[in-house]
Amino acid sequence: MKQQPILKVEGLTKSYGEKIVHNGVSFELHENEMLGLFGGSGTGKSVVLRSIIGLEQPDSGSIRFLGQELTSLSERELFPVRQKISYVFQNGALFDSLSVEENLAYPLRAHTRLSTQEIKAKVDAMLTLVDLPDSNELLPSELSGGMQKRAGLARAIIMNPKVVLFDEPTAGLDPVNTRRLCQNILNFKSRGLTGIFVTHDIASAFEICDRIIILADGKIAISMATEEMRSSNDPLVQTFTSGAHIR
Ligand SMILES: Nc1ncnc2c1ncn2[C@@H]1O[C@H](COP(=O)(O)OP(=O)(O)O)[C@@H](O)[C@H]1O
Ligand SMILES: [Mg+2]
Repeated sequence: MKQQPILKVEGLTKSYGEKIVHNGVSFELHENEMLGLFGGSGTGKSVVLRSIIGLEQPDSGSIRFLGQELTSLSERELFPVRQKISYVFQNGALFDSLSVEENLAYPLRAHTRLSTQEIKAKVDAMLTLVDLPDSNELLPSELSGGMQKRAGLARAIIMNPKVVLFDEPTAGLDPVNTRRLCQNILNFKSRGLTGIFVTHDIASAFEICDRIIILADGKIAISMATEEMRSSNDPLVQTFTSGAHIR
């Protein structure tokens, strides 16, 4: 029997004023799967991710997470959901006035009963995993762009979420830092990370994602295993794999 999806998005519609952004967006995410989400600029990729964590309310449609309908939840009911589904913001979204260590310790202090030593050990282990072993005392402003994104990744993952949503995590990074971040994500993937990876960076997506979906004209127009997409002759797929969508 096929495994139940961890996340099931069905028939999402969303308009802003006259502008129809989503016109029936449906897809599934399975456990231990990394799902790539492609789409031209302004097609509504970020709105998909924001809807999943309840930062946007769809006009209609359903988002089920582990069987629970999310679209009808109140802010308060969304609280536990946002601990299980974490969102990696573009710049890492670190607290400016807190050190890297304090940024990572923050959710552990707020939501777990771990001791100070246990928290410190977890933070140190996580910083090592994202290649930031000696950055505990630094402020976000003292980190390079690549380091900020890796610290943001560490903070998003430290609570051991069920699903991680990545919104263009490599945007603005040079090739070396892009590779480092992708290597970090692959390491977490080998430990069972499940997530959605929104990106224009086709090479990174091909490396990280098991399956890729393409959002076009308000719908998921394509859903393919990454291997299948590599050799696909579909014109829409080729627009993306050739990079023509960003020219
Ligand atoms: N809060 C909002 N108010 C009005 N329009 C919005 C809002 N959020 C997104 N949009 C519009 O929805 C469309 C999709 O946005 P977005 O999901 O950010 O696109 P992208 O695929 O580039 O991530 C864009 O045209 C954007 O202007
Ligand atoms: Mg976006």
